[in-house]
Amino acid sequence: MHELTREEKLTLVTGYFGVQKEWNHFRSPEARLQSAGFVAGVSRVGFTPQWQSDAGSGVATQGEAPPELERTVLPSGLLTACTFDPALAERAGAMIGSEARASGFNVMLAGGVDLLRDPGNGRNFEYGGEDPLVAGSMVGAIVRGIQSNHIVTTVKHFAFNDQETGRGIVNVIVDEAAARISDLLAFQIAIETGAPGSIMCSYNKINGTYACQNEWLLNRVLKQDWGYPGYVMTDWGAQHDTVQNALAGLDQETGVSQPGKYQWLDKLSHAIDSGAVPAARLDDMAHRIARTLIEKGAVDDPVNPGPIDFAAHAAVTQADAEGGITLLKNDGILPLKSSSKRIAVIGSHADVGVLTGGGSAQVYARGGNAVRGLGPAHWPGPQVYAPSSPLAALRTELPNAEIAFDAGTDLKAAAATAAKADVAIVFATQWTAEAMDFSLTLPDEQDKLIEAVARANKHTVVVLETGGAVLLPWLGRVSGLVEAWYPGSEGGKAIARVLSGAVNPSGHLALSFPKAITQLPRPKIVGEGLAKDQAFDVHYDEGAAVGYRYYEAKHLEPELPFGLGLSYTAFKRDALSAKLEGTELRVGFRVKNSGARAGKDVALVFVSPVAGGWEAPKRLGAFAKTELASNASSEVTLTVDPRLLATFDVKAHAFHVAKGTYRVTLASSARDPGESVTVTLPERTLPAGAGVH
Ligand code: BGC
Repeated sequence: MHELTREEKLTLVTGYFGVQKEWNHFRSPEARLQSAGFVAGVSRVGFTPQWQSDAGSGVATQGEAPPELERTVLPSGLLTACTFDPALAERAGAMIGSEARASGFNVMLAGGVDLLRDPGNGRNFEYGGEDPLVAGSMVGAIVRGIQSNHIVTTVKHFAFNDQETGRGIVNVIVDEAAARISDLLAFQIAIETGAPGSIMCSYNKINGTYACQNEWLLNRVLKQDWGYPGYVMTDWGAQHDTVQNALAGLDQETGVSQPGKYQWLDKLSHAIDSGAVPAARLDDMAHRIARTLIEKGAVDDPVNPGPIDFAAHAAVTQADAEGGITLLKNDGILPLKSSSKRIAVIGSHADVGVLTGGGSAQVYARGGNAVRGLGPAHWPGPQVYAPSSPLAALRTELPNAEIAFDAGTDLKAAAATAAKADVAIVFATQWTAEAMDFSLTLPDEQDKLIEAVARANKHTVVVLETGGAVLLPWLGRVSGLVEAWYPGSEGGKAIARVLSGAVNPSGHLALSFPKAITQLPRPKIVGEGLAKDQAFDVHYDEGAAVGYRYYEAKHLEPELPFGLGLSYTAFKRDALSAKLEGTELRVGFRVKNSGARAGKDVALVFVSPVAGGWEAPKRLGAFAKTELASNASSEVTLTVDPRLLATFDVKAHAFHVAKGTYRVTLASSARDPGESVTVTLPERTLPAGAGVH
């Protein structure tokens, strides 16, 4: 770092908005069109500029700025988590990373891993669900894939940005012991798995201090305990106080768009002159950024805008969608029988496309928005549909069926169309987006549409395209339910192939669906209805009892449990064993495909201390997805991450596994009693930064 001047170091730590809009006073001809961020290079030493683009579903277009960048749209992060297939997630990540490269970006702002505590959080679609192991390992796999393109990605939003309402002002109150085995563990596992070059600190406060100037979070947990070698960037505009930011461990400010606002560039220099920030801190910031870009390959293998193999990428996004679309109910109606001659497809623009999630992560598919003119009028709007028609794909899949479409806007007309068909398929959507939270009731009275169709035709299947969990008041009255999440730019095909049986569904819920909002730790998102600048606290009193752990601790039965996912074949698991090998808990079992067709099983291994004493009766300790031909079987061995057997002892600053007997349960969902064995574990202490990935 000694060759760089102070100005050059300051250049590396200051990021501007990249987008070419009037409100961005720092529009640089060097920045990429419609991008989130730009950090100038240091040409004197040949150091690359940093071109930053959102996000987890592919190369995004920043804030409604035309011309839209048309790129391959991956399914939502939540769908990818629901694949329970890290190899698939890594391929998906590699694909979007290659499009980032080919679009001239060497930093991708992807890798959202905030835990799903509130199902109404508008950004749940970008994240990996409610369980720290699933979220951390699946998002970590995406990150690994992205960075295989010699670019940097950022895991975000660190930490506890678990709601959007008041995100810049909310103060999250959470107990450290609980934090270390919930949200922070998800980040820790994602970082170990994916080795992201960067971490993005979030807008909110944690226990009274903004995340980006939170000494405990950045210096102690991330850099000291976890030994994180990369750099911390702010979320766009999440910097507040130059000195506190710098001293707490922030390395790069981002999203500067107006003179006088933020400007670490000048203020940091003054702070160094006045002695408020040691000069060594700036060296460390610049060193972390430069070292990371070099280590990840972004310097030796510079990005260059170039061609994209869209056909190959379509296959990747389709495979991801087909692995994560989740069959949640099937009274034998699916796959659609060849005897179903007349099919009614109803609602949600299923004639032209599939929904995508909004906000900074918005990716436009090739062909643009298939349904123009939908609100909201301003960012994070409008709602964007990828032009992948489920209707057209169903017609291709089922060439002998007569398939009618009804827009679903008039209940009577929809019911009449349904009544004439052998099977009615109702599509229902819930648009979600950044900077907003959402009701769990389907919007636009779609519940009424579903009820009306189900009354008119008892062979009704519902296909959902939602950001996360929604309420399903009609569940008992429909014969089939498929959750397609936001399925990406080949989503229409993937949905049709699951319905027709060309694909055997293998997605499983990485989240629980409540029966009613009264089952949630916070039935309403805290802060809703408050004045825009009124500060408020949200207490995570449930601690580490997030999702299925909360339901179980409170003896509540959700509508659909974590882990649920049906298949068109059947699996039998047996020969469960659990033993200590050295210090590690190894779990073995056999799984057999006992049905007539090939499929993929997802086995969940839950662990629980027989004596109790955790935040909830059990936790997910390991999982495995296994592909099996009909009648084939396979032996599976898994290792349980010891942190999932531990509580965090704040005083000792360590994870602590209590000596005792533990139950190991092999199951298909959090509600499945499954099969159990017990194993005795010795006491074990692991440092706060211990990782096994
Ligand atoms: C979002 C980040 C995003 C950034 C840049 C912020 O509003 O919270 O996730 O990476 O904007 O677009």
